[in-house]
Amino acid sequence: MEAPVLLTGGAGFIGSHVLDRLLGEGFEVVVLDNFSSGYRENIAKHLGSRLVRVVEGDIRVKQTVQEASQGCRTIIHLAANPEVRMGDPEEHLEHNVRGTLNILEVARRLDVSVVAFASSSTVYGEATLMPTPEDYSPMRPISTYGASKLACEALLSAYAYTYNVPGVALRYANVVGPRARRGVVYDFTRKLLSNPHRLEILGDGTQKKSYIWVGDAVEASLTAIEKRREAFEAFNVGSIDAITVREVADAVCDALSLKGVEYVFVGGPGGRGWPGDVKYMHLDVGRLISLGWRPRYVSREAVILSAQELKRELSKGF
Ligand SMILES: NC(=O)c1ccc[n+]([C@@H]2O[C@H](COP(=O)([O-])OP(=O)(O)OC[C@H]3O[C@@H](n4cnc5c(N)ncnc54)[C@H](O)[C@@H]3O)[C@@H](O)[C@H]2O)c1
Repeated sequence: MEAPVLLTGGAGFIGSHVLDRLLGEGFEVVVLDNFSSGYRENIAKHLGSRLVRVVEGDIRVKQTVQEASQGCRTIIHLAANPEVRMGDPEEHLEHNVRGTLNILEVARRLDVSVVAFASSSTVYGEATLMPTPEDYSPMRPISTYGASKLACEALLSAYAYTYNVPGVALRYANVVGPRARRGVVYDFTRKLLSNPHRLEILGDGTQKKSYIWVGDAVEASLTAIEKRREAFEAFNVGSIDAITVREVADAVCDALSLKGVEYVFVGGPGGRGWPGDVKYMHLDVGRLISLGWRPRYVSREAVILSAQELKRELSKGF
């Protein structure tokens, strides 16, 4: 990876952990974020650093991307509307697809060595093969969020082969850990701290998915960027197992030392949490493992650690 690095979405959950890691390695980083779902607190400790420049701006504006990326050789592009649940299709198109097109347009005019893009397990839709490898097909997303991520991947591939802009798609499973402000672990932790007797669960609890610790996801992302072999390459980024939503609830209760909590299942269609919720997701992470990466935690451990960290954060009022 070559410095300086343009990090879009660097004030967000995953982005701020990537920032910690890059600065720890001595990289210069330009953070481009519009702070729509990111927080200054996430990056506050770095604001005085000579290695960081923060640009408050929107990736939907090409000129902003152009100005922010001057001199950057690596682009890690995480900024997006990350709302999977019934998000607004227009928003997904504008923030995710238009925003990514702007990044790629700027990248092809600069001497960029790689654009790494935060994709998602949702690009597979309801895969029938578990664990699902990167070359699984047909890819039929069942949410507009997943569709927007797959469209972005297609653009990355096209720019890699047409304009020689190398691309990496990081297909994240459910990433969990400190600073997360959405997702099932955050949701359960927050609800249980306000009512430790009763927990409302979206869906029938049998949805089974993979949860990856944010530190493992960051290491996986950097491994993929450094060791990629193709002009465009996709990588599954998940833990090696999958657990049910009921098991997530049990793990969060254990993390918070709660017993006898009543679970109330609020049904979505077919036991899903909401229309567009993929019920089963378990990624085959063999490709990254073959490059030397290995996750430190399985899903249950990642969930427990996250709930404990989130409890600490929420009790401090953040
Ligand atoms: N967290 C997960 O479990 C998960 C799973 C799969 C994929 N992803 C993807 O990873 C990326 C990071 O997700 P996250 O969980 O850290 O979300 P997040 O909301 O914490 O981070 C997204 C960041 O992008 C910024 N942003 C959003 N729209 C922008 C725009 N138009 N211009 C500039 N900045 C903008 C936000 O302010 C925020 O700081 C996203 O692309 C998301 O879709 C996340």
